[in-house]
Amino acid sequence: KFDKYEYLQDLMRRRGFAWGSFEIYGGSRGFYDYGPLGATIKRKIERKIREAFIREGFFEIETPDITPEQVFIASGHVEKFVDPLVECKKCGARFRADHLIEEALGIDVEGKSAEEMTKIIREHNLRCPECGGELSDVWYFNLMFETYIGPYKDKKAYLRPETAQGIFVNFKRLNAFARNKLPFGVFQIGKAYRNEISPRQGMIRLREFTQAEVEIFFNPNETEHPHFDEVKDENLRLYPIEHQLKDLGMIEVTAEEAVKKGYLMNTFFAYYLVMIKRILLDIGIPEDKIRFRQQLPEERAHYSADTWDAEIYSERFGWVECVGLAYRTDYDLSRHMKMSGADLTVMIHYDKPKIVKKLQVSLNMKRVGPKLKGDAKKINENIKSMSQEELKALVKELEEKGKVIIDGYELEKDDFIIKEVEEKITGEKIVPHVLEPSFGIDRPFYLLLENSLAVDEDGRVYLKIKKDMAPIEVAVLPLVAKEPLTSIAYDIYRTLQKEGFIVVYDEKDSIGKRYMRYDEIGTPYCVTIDNQTPEDGMVTIRDRDTREQIRVKIEELPRKLRELIFG
Ligand code: GAP
Repeated sequence: KFDKYEYLQDLMRRRGFAWGSFEIYGGSRGFYDYGPLGATIKRKIERKIREAFIREGFFEIETPDITPEQVFIASGHVEKFVDPLVECKKCGARFRADHLIEEALGIDVEGKSAEEMTKIIREHNLRCPECGGELSDVWYFNLMFETYIGPYKDKKAYLRPETAQGIFVNFKRLNAFARNKLPFGVFQIGKAYRNEISPRQGMIRLREFTQAEVEIFFNPNETEHPHFDEVKDENLRLYPIEHQLKDLGMIEVTAEEAVKKGYLMNTFFAYYLVMIKRILLDIGIPEDKIRFRQQLPEERAHYSADTWDAEIYSERFGWVECVGLAYRTDYDLSRHMKMSGADLTVMIHYDKPKIVKKLQVSLNMKRVGPKLKGDAKKINENIKSMSQEELKALVKELEEKGKVIIDGYELEKDDFIIKEVEEKITGEKIVPHVLEPSFGIDRPFYLLLENSLAVDEDGRVYLKIKKDMAPIEVAVLPLVAKEPLTSIAYDIYRTLQKEGFIVVYDEKDSIGKRYMRYDEIGTPYCVTIDNQTPEDGMVTIRDRDTREQIRVKIEELPRKLRELIFG
């Protein structure tokens, strides 16, 4: 029986798409190399995402992979980016404790402490699945790779587990670049690193992988997307939390209905789900293989208040999370503001000035002067510098208890002058909220190949990859390796190369074998130079999918191919 997964693994290695890294040294799990064809497809995926982001008006930046420890203390990753681990005391094999318990006992232990999981293991006498040995206690393991900056081991750093933090720590400069105007989006495409405990699913779970993440900074009081009208009729296949819990299956609604019916919190959210869907379609993922699943609260990352994942269907792995859309609130900016002391707020200017009531409190100096001796002036200054919240608390205490203690002095209500004044304000400072579309590149890469592998009725196996995503766009083939066919073919090859196509020239083996060779790697068009070409100046273009051939003039080739491949 034809095993699609095995065939694809073999094809990927044999033809230069991708394979496990460090092969000659026995390999290292969780690392993959992209070969010439794979690297080309990966760049094309990145390019499509980049172009889509640029069309949204987002700006691109690039920041280091190695990041000082403080950044990830602030972001919560040092404390929260952990998985529970357990070890076999006999054979030393290590497992994700939560997966082990869930698989063996069907108990959901998401969010449970290490002690609680250890207790479950002991109570049910769970043993090592590999050798039956006794299991250790459970402990939490941080997934970040650690390193040091400089020659001494005193400056700890981590390889970033997401590209996002490079954007948050630059917020002040980026906000200035965006001229203090919300919303704005910043993205970066780069590597992320996670020391996954047992990466066993090929390219799905890697220890080093590529992300394309946008952080969209917005005012939480303005969540209507200005261009929602452009996308409101797009169909979305949603799998909301309550549908998962009640086994209700997925729903298909327009973006507009999804907001109206309350599945999505606002048009801002809906707009970016549509953007994600359109990018995946543009890459060549079939529409019926895409769905959006809302993460259950216990699945969410520590910074997220709501997350929807774009999942792509795999015959081998089922639904695979490939893109996340997370509502990160003001979590990251507020934490970085606290840790670094930098002002990461944005001034919001009102359309019209607002009149607000404000408390004004000072000491009644005539009355308290003698009582406070030389401290009256200092205390008065301190009171004047209090925030509105602090002043409200002070007045409340005076009203409830009739007195307060300041710097060891007991003061009564009459010791203060309390006024409510009106003030005209033109704006306020806020910490922006963040919505984050986060694309992995490697998973969509693999799923694009898996979903493109096609078998015809006559047994032909070929890569029906979207034509503009093909790693080799045109193969130029002289029917036989003889002059003048070879010279004409070579000239055509050079011309197409200069026109910007990814093109190869190939004269080896029979024409049938060559067609098979290029079908297998998804080359959408083969151009064949035959015995008639020297006479009529025409060549044939063969279509990978239909195998139909058309004849065109050599001069027409670049234009015709561009139209056929890029539409
Ligand atoms: N900044 C948010 C963030 O990192 P995530 O859901 O952890 O969110 C986003 O990751 C995407 O990165 C995932 O949807 C997936 O495509 C990719 N990704 C995450 N971990 C991965 C891994 N171990 N191997 C390959 N891709 C991974």
